Amino acid sequence: PENMSIDEQGILKISGVSCFDLAKNYGTPLLVLDEIEIKNNINKFKEAFFKSGSESFFIAYASKSFLNSELCKIINEEKIGIEVVSGGELYIALKNNFPVEKIYFNGNNKFNEEIEMAIKNDVSTIIVDNEEELYKINRISKRFGKKTRILLRIVPGINPNTHKYISTGQVDSKFGIHLENLDSIVKKIKSFNGLELCGIHAHIGSQISEPMYYVNLIETLFELLVSLRKKENIILGEIDIGGGFGVAHSSNEQSMDIFDVINKIVNQVEVISKKHNYPKPKISIEPGRSIISTAGTTLYTVGAIKKSASKKYAIVDGGMADNIRPSLYNAKYQAYVANKMKETEDFEKVTIAGRACESGDILIDEIFLPRLSIGDLLAIPFTGDYTYSMSSNYNGFLRPAIVLVNNGKNKLITRRETYDDLLSRDITKNDWHIFD
Ligand code: LLP
Repeated sequence: PENMSIDEQGILKISGVSCFDLAKNYGTPLLVLDEIEIKNNINKFKEAFFKSGSESFFIAYASKSFLNSELCKIINEEKIGIEVVSGGELYIALKNNFPVEKIYFNGNNKFNEEIEMAIKNDVSTIIVDNEEELYKINRISKRFGKKTRILLRIVPGINPNTHKYISTGQVDSKFGIHLENLDSIVKKIKSFNGLELCGIHAHIGSQISEPMYYVNLIETLFELLVSLRKKENIILGEIDIGGGFGVAHSSNEQSMDIFDVINKIVNQVEVISKKHNYPKPKISIEPGRSIISTAGTTLYTVGAIKKSASKKYAIVDGGMADNIRPSLYNAKYQAYVANKMKETEDFEKVTIAGRACESGDILIDEIFLPRLSIGDLLAIPFTGDYTYSMSSNYNGFLRPAIVLVNNGKNKLITRRETYDDLLSRDITKNDWHIFD
């Protein structure tokens, strides 16, 4: 990775900060986030839109991939928006004074309380997943005397050839409005005066590596707008294509070329707009991992080494509780021995295992690394996305600390969990109740 370097002692540095010092000061496992890399990733999207000549676009960072208070600040400094999918994510954004006019609210079963929180706080846009939500949002909007901007999430019937668990746009998806119901829903919205229908949305999945799927998606969504103009006599001004831009976590995955895909998207919008003489809609995207993945590196310490008949294991002080992706999706990662970056000989094949009581808790199955010893520091790059945000306290493990680095400087942005955090919600009073 470009943001990494090696010092004279053969220690890996991230944005000029030594991994050895980070581990010594904050302990491991440790999630290290590189602020410059986050900003660079955001700027790739912005630049791609500008260079493609797009006049109207909106980038909403998909906070499910990673969110904390500092990140809200960084995202806001870069002047892009944020996409939330729950009251919890919305609460974090609001508490950090994230500008409400740049918050998009997604989710396939939003509670009344969540919708209320959004509408009360003037969240810019709610993306409607199903018919029931229309009634809820309309009712709550009217109660607050407001009109809520909505997009309709539809099922585009596109299968993007990615892991089954992260495909969302195929015809039988649990997300979004199925096309056969769209016309009747649009008709209903017209009579709901708490709603302002502004466009349509789709998210076809994550880890997509082919721009073509997005080109097809634009075509599908734009043609829907054209047909709605004809049938319902409405012109909608926004197409939101979700996120999903693929990131390579190891050599067997491929990163999406951001300029290429955005350029193709913008061109396709242009083509269809001309073809049907339809005003060019705003293009919105919701990238998550393509912004945060490469900014994150997880540091672990090797605590045990053992040999089986056919394998050598190095067991680290974290695992599936802080990164569930290998166990859940069979995700592949690469690793560095952060304190042995100069060694060129004496490589051996080793399996990096986590310390959870699960045989499936293997972070990397068989990788060639400089011969490991107890106490070595392992760095797994490209672990900013869907690691901390999917972490758990399984086995009573504590969530790691998170440190932000930037060009030689570092600061703690989330402290490590404590044992008391594990107890903080428990109630041990002897007060049984009987419901009447
Ligand atoms: N928009 C919507 C509506 C989404 O559902 C998602 C991701 C995104 C945007 C952002 O997608 P991204 O750009 O991050 O790919 N836990 C899985 C990924 C689940 C993605 C869920 N939705 C993983 O670790 O691979």
